[in-house]
Amino acid sequence: MSQIFVMDHPLIKHKISMLRDKNTTVKEFRELAYEIALLMGYEATKDLHLTTKEVETPLAKTTGFFVEKQVAIVPILRAGLGMVDAMMSLIPAAKTGHIGLYRDHETLQPVEYYCKLPTDIEKRQVLVVDPMLATGGSAAAAIEFIKKRGANKIKFMCLIAAPEGVKALQDAHPDVDIYIASLDEKLNENGYIVPGLGDAGDRLFGTL
Ligand code: PRP
Ligand code: URA
Repeated sequence: MSQIFVMDHPLIKHKISMLRDKNTTVKEFRELAYEIALLMGYEATKDLHLTTKEVETPLAKTTGFFVEKQVAIVPILRAGLGMVDAMMSLIPAAKTGHIGLYRDHETLQPVEYYCKLPTDIEKRQVLVVDPMLATGGSAAAAIEFIKKRGANKIKFMCLIAAPEGVKALQDAHPDVDIYIASLDEKLNENGYIVPGLGDAGDRLFGTL
């Protein structure tokens, strides 16, 4: 069964609280999503493989440690885009794939409209990013599509999750570890996370 990592860092808790606030502006929301993803990235990249290479300092030769460059960041469009820059600034050599899914607001079922991934996805540690894990339908479907293209090392990162979504994703993909900044109380009857932050895509892109 996959592991669930819920962040327990005061800076993340502070920033998540600001992110939730309905009075937070679009600019602030984008900045906060970036900063939280950056802090979470530290945890989600903890087990990346290192290679060694000699480095010469002004004083001596020493062993240097370098992250292998085999990482892919895959945002689920569109709200996942809000976490990409942070991850790319941590791992500049990573490649970015995109998967376009939207949740049909009537049926709550995910509908795929775009998928473009690095061609060597099977060799990469894939980090799928999306701020919200609500019913889990979008994340489970995105990961299904990514696996069909050959990916076999996948982690999922989100800012806010509902317990229902965590369970659904674990059931669908027991091999995928999940990194969560805040595990919230529940879903409401419209499939929104409570207390949550509302519609992440709208708040990131100002389309309220
Ligand atoms: C949001 C969010 C997730 C999805 C989560 O996207 O960014 O992708 O909902 O819900 P689920 O777990 O119930 O599938 P949305 O479908 O609103 O699309 P958008 O990013 O284009 O706004
Ligand atoms: N998608 C969002 O953007 N917010 C939610 O609360 C649930 C799904």
